[in-house]
Amino acid sequence: MKEALKRIPGLRMAVRLLKGQSARDARDYLFDRMPKGSVCAEIGVHKGQCSRRIMGQVKPRLLHLIDPWEHKEPPYNKPVPNYCPEWCELGENGQLIMDARYEAVKKLFAREITAGRVVMHRGYSNEVVGDFDNGYFDWIYLDSNPLYDVIKQDLELYYPKVKAGGFIAGDNYAMEGWWHNEAQKAVDEFVAKGAGLTLEVREHQFMIKKPL
Ligand SMILES: C[S@@+](CC[C@H](N)C(=O)[O-])C[C@H]1O[C@@H](n2cnc3c(N)ncnc32)[C@H](O)[C@@H]1O
Repeated sequence: MKEALKRIPGLRMAVRLLKGQSARDARDYLFDRMPKGSVCAEIGVHKGQCSRRIMGQVKPRLLHLIDPWEHKEPPYNKPVPNYCPEWCELGENGQLIMDARYEAVKKLFAREITAGRVVMHRGYSNEVVGDFDNGYFDWIYLDSNPLYDVIKQDLELYYPKVKAGGFIAGDNYAMEGWWHNEAQKAVDEFVAKGAGLTLEVREHQFMIKKPL
């Protein structure tokens, strides 16, 4: 039934409008700019919702999915009262829940994994960075832990992995939350330091272009 509904033209857009989202949001804008048939990575995958979107919209030749799917308790994420991201503070079965989410993502991409179009890397971004050569990626999307130290580290570790003319992009820019807009601070500092880097921001999405 759900599958049949998905095939009705315009229904997806109508649902998004009903939910108060613009028909094409900032992520669509960003993914529209990423090269079709590219080699890319998403850092911070969780349930794979955004990864599906990347597959559908960008149609990459190869998508690497990087996430430890590890349950964490505060104060790891410095949560403010009454708020904690969906991927921590899940209670005593937290790791079982994260294991199940990892398995669900594996299932979601089973066809693409078999076809060699998706590779999953279960680990923190700094642990798996050695899996990739310098200049390997056309673009990378950062959407893991939006704290300053994590974004700064990912920009520094993964920027060399992107080819000249490629992009390192991500979410959580100019966004207030338990992370106190630390993503913007890390991105702005990184762009200010790098020669010839250009930054484009659309709502909370950022795109840093590496010069040719
Ligand atoms: C906001 S969720 C990702 C949501 C996903 N991008 C989407 O929009 O569907 C954040 C994820 O980042 C992961 N994560 C946290 N720190 C990480 C790190 N250093 N490297 C890779 N993944 C990390 C968490 O396990 C969690 O699954």
